[in-house]
Amino acid sequence: MSLLDAARDVRERAYAPYSNFKVGAAVRSKSGTIFQGCNVENAAYPEGTCAEAGAIAAMIASGETELVEVCVIADAETPVTPCGGCRQKLAEFGKGEVTVRMATLDGPEMTMTLAELLPGAFHKSQMDRS
Ligand code: THU
Repeated sequence: MSLLDAARDVRERAYAPYSNFKVGAAVRSKSGTIFQGCNVENAAYPEGTCAEAGAIAAMIASGETELVEVCVIADAETPVTPCGGCRQKLAEFGKGEVTVRMATLDGPEMTMTLAELLPGAFHKSQMDRS
């Protein structure tokens, strides 16, 4: 299964009864394994989680800590870019050159690197003195 197919597939299982905006994400880890995640909303709105966070959690739970490729898909007119928090979450586990493919159900898409999405990301190396 391609990364895009994996993101499209998991999007269908998103739990988004409040926004009605289903998002699917898939990350490829260093070993080549694909991990999927979808948004999971909550009646207490701020408790909802993004698709990207779910895919990262699945990768970490399996014992891997590096992602090398990301794909996000939603039903939108223009490709949906990861929220600010998810950019920081992705940057924790992926190098700046990792590509994030942002797709839509019916065509338009865009690809950017993590460094382009989050220039100046806070990185653990900045805590080296601590
Ligand atoms: N959402 C994601 O899952 N990923 C994104 O990149 C953008 C936004 C979700 C959060 C919420 O469930 C819904 O989309 C509307 O914001």
